[in-house]
Amino acid sequence: MKVLQTPAELRAAREKLTGRVAVVMTMGALHSGHEELLRAAAGQADHVIATIFVNPLQFGPAEDFDRYPRTLESDLAACERAGVDIVFTPSRDGMYPQGTPTITVDPGQLGTELEGTVRPGHFAGVLTVVFKLLSLTAADVALFGEKDYQQLTLIRAMARDLDLPVEIVGVPTVREADGLALSSRNRYLDDDQRQLALGLSAALRAGAAEHRADAVLAAAQAALDPRIDVDYLVLRGADLGEVPASGPARLLIAARLGTTRLIDNIAIALK
Ligand code: PAJ
Repeated sequence: MKVLQTPAELRAAREKLTGRVAVVMTMGALHSGHEELLRAAAGQADHVIATIFVNPLQFGPAEDFDRYPRTLESDLAACERAGVDIVFTPSRDGMYPQGTPTITVDPGQLGTELEGTVRPGHFAGVLTVVFKLLSLTAADVALFGEKDYQQLTLIRAMARDLDLPVEIVGVPTVREADGLALSSRNRYLDDDQRQLALGLSAALRAGAAEHRADAVLAAAQAALDPRIDVDYLVLRGADLGEVPASGPARLLIAARLGTTRLIDNIAIALK
């Protein structure tokens, strides 16, 4: 497994790869959710490139960029176990030599909704780094978790609208045995908050047992512990557009537990 730091090294190593190349992009602090993406990538391609970069562009000034967990040594071990060929761990200067880039990707209206409401500029930061990493890796397929459903939806839209020559694949959310979606931020939760956090996935499951839009929302709402500080609990179409009369939809939740913000979502079948 090669561990490369500079864009030039990555391009040179990429050119030597033959066959289908998959990329899995991460900010490190790898857990079983990321490892599932890496395994799925190995199953779909001849070579896997993993990227580890805590992208400053997608963090707001009051967000956790500085305290975001950095665990490079165990991340590299996880990549090695998953059969990754190349790990790209660029520096901030390597990715943004001119400081803040003047040209960025505009996520459009959806970028201002849901997560975008509380995290202005977040999705422009995400799409810009994803675009750059797709360009540097020239990957045939890129895998992203459904855990970050709005992110996945926006990346699909970017690939479609900008004719990027890459297949975008969504991977189902990996959960703890009790239902909590794995997240690098779960480590910030104390015991009480960890217990309360179960309410997010429980509410989503209660909603998913229903098949009429109003019943989905009512069931999810009723299952929520009033001590959970909910930012939003919303039903959307599967592409995060308007709720369809029937067919696939998505129920999404965001909540704060102390200073930690958690998100989760689930597929809904409207009938
Ligand atoms: P990060 O939060 O590190 O997540 C990297 C990838 O792992 C994303 O595609 C995310 O959806 C996926 N993932 C996280 N938790 C998961 C879980 N429990 N089950 C399945 N997949 C999971 O998302 C980012 O980084 C960044 O925004 C990035 C795309 C790397 C751009 O900087």
